[in-house]
Amino acid sequence: MKSEVSETPYAGARLPLHVAVIMDGNGRWAKKRMLNRVKGHEKGADAVRMMIRTCREIGIRHLTLYAFSTENWQRPKTEVKALMELLKRFLASEKQEMIDNHIRINVIGELDRLPEDLVVSIKKAMDETADKNAMQLNLALSYGGRSEIAMACAEIARKVKNGEADIHAITPEYFERHLYTADIPDPDLLIRTGGEYRISNFLLWQIAYSELFITSTLWPDFSRKEFMEILSDYNRRERRFGRVDD
Ligand code: IPE
Ligand code: IPE
Ligand code: MG
Repeated sequence: MKSEVSETPYAGARLPLHVAVIMDGNGRWAKKRMLNRVKGHEKGADAVRMMIRTCREIGIRHLTLYAFSTENWQRPKTEVKALMELLKRFLASEKQEMIDNHIRINVIGELDRLPEDLVVSIKKAMDETADKNAMQLNLALSYGGRSEIAMACAEIARKVKNGEADIHAITPEYFERHLYTADIPDPDLLIRTGGEYRISNFLLWQIAYSELFITSTLWPDFSRKEFMEILSDYNRRERRFGRVDD
């Protein structure tokens, strides 16, 4: 693995605790090369591996990757099927390295909409890495921020109805304990590749105060070098959270 000083955050750098990524641009990467969109997703898997290794190496505690949205179910059946198969192959090929590197695998999203064989692989990967604590990889699969919020509301309404919760106790802190991300800190940094200036239903609640970084680089071309540049940009930003700087 490369270790040039210029590609490693300098000592004392303020690292984000949680980096979230909207990995966009696989289809365009393939189109530019007159390839099938699926080839773009396959190439994108290399960038995923690079991100996991880099984050583990530099000490990012949480990495959340948006791999498939609730809206992505509307894509052609063949693309959806290829993506599900790719995800399964990715888990199979990368799991051992993640175990060796003490990475916990977690999946957020509507697991019950995924193909059964993929769900089996996911549950196995989550079980086998449940005690790992150097880093947590959160894969957002069949994930949608609006569904997540609606699901949390339904769960709280159920509790109120059963007398397990008091309406006056519904604070933001209480509410977020009902999200998929209950045990995960909010993202400090949200990166979107592929150049679109939108959120596409990703972590709507959780990104309230995340620093946003949009790059036109297509996901399969996203490099360790560019990630390091984004981290140094993050380092220079002043996060005020609505206060005035002192
Ligand atoms: C992102 O790449 C991957 C998924 C949404 C699964 P796209 O497939 O959206 O690529 P573009 O945006 O068409 O280039
Ligand atoms: C966002 O990309 C979802 C993922 C990266 C998984 P999309 O390509 O689906 O987003 P839109 O359609 O451009 O908003
Ligand atoms: Mg896209």
